[in-house]
Amino acid sequence: MITTENLTKIYTDGAPVRALEDVTLEIAAGEFVAITGPSGSGKSTLLNLIGTLDRPTSGRVVVDGVDVGTLRGNALADFRRERIGFVFQMFHLVPTLTALENVMLPLVPYRRGLKFRLEDRARELLEAVGLGDRLHHLPGQLSGGEQQRVAIARALINTPKVILADEPTGNLDSRAGAEIVALLRQLNRERGVTVLVATHNEVVAQAADRTLRLRDGRVV
Ligand SMILES: Nc1ncnc2c1ncn2[C@@H]1O[C@H](COP(=O)(O)OP(=O)(O)OP(=O)(O)O)[C@@H](O)[C@H]1O
Ligand SMILES: [Mg+2]
Repeated sequence: MITTENLTKIYTDGAPVRALEDVTLEIAAGEFVAITGPSGSGKSTLLNLIGTLDRPTSGRVVVDGVDVGTLRGNALADFRRERIGFVFQMFHLVPTLTALENVMLPLVPYRRGLKFRLEDRARELLEAVGLGDRLHHLPGQLSGGEQQRVAIARALINTPKVILADEPTGNLDSRAGAEIVALLRQLNRERGVTVLVATHNEVVAQAADRTLRLRDGRVV
């Protein structure tokens, strides 16, 4: 489902930083993989390159059979929207929108072309993540763990093939963190979505099928 070939990223905004060096890896469809490693080892960089949020300095990323380096403009945005769901440490919910509206948001511009009612699908997903009784709450009225559940439901609204989660438990206490891990694991099993999680959290790593360790931008 995900292949990287000799992936290298050198940030050149200031003094050059070799964030990722020659990373070659393969992740099968339906796998749940943890990416661990010290702070600065390149975990977020790797997720951003796989998720097409950034471009590599050299090397290739293939997701779901598509060499993402060949995509430009709208094709790239379409690809990202249709195949990939993102979950971040800081949730990134819109504070003025309800849980239901936040989940619907990625597809609101496209709702005319949908073969299903967007609101129904968003409600179903919130029920699936255990928030059927919080549909009309604003993010500020939800706990951190509940906000992350909303973010996960939002990531699923496009029925993505891949979920990329960057420290999804980083802002949660251990109990809420464990619940989020269990939820991701459950969604992976039930929906077959491939999950890639960057984490410092041992509980996440233990739940994974496999752990990839990075050090100084290399897989070790
Ligand atoms: N936009 C950027 N410009 C310049 N350097 C960057 C940029 N983003 C990351 N880096 C550098 O690249 C290296 C890898 O960073 P990255 O964020 O991928 O690490 P990480 O493993 O996710 O760390 P953490 O566990 O702290 O989140 C670090 O040395 C970081 O300072
Ligand atoms: Mg990071």
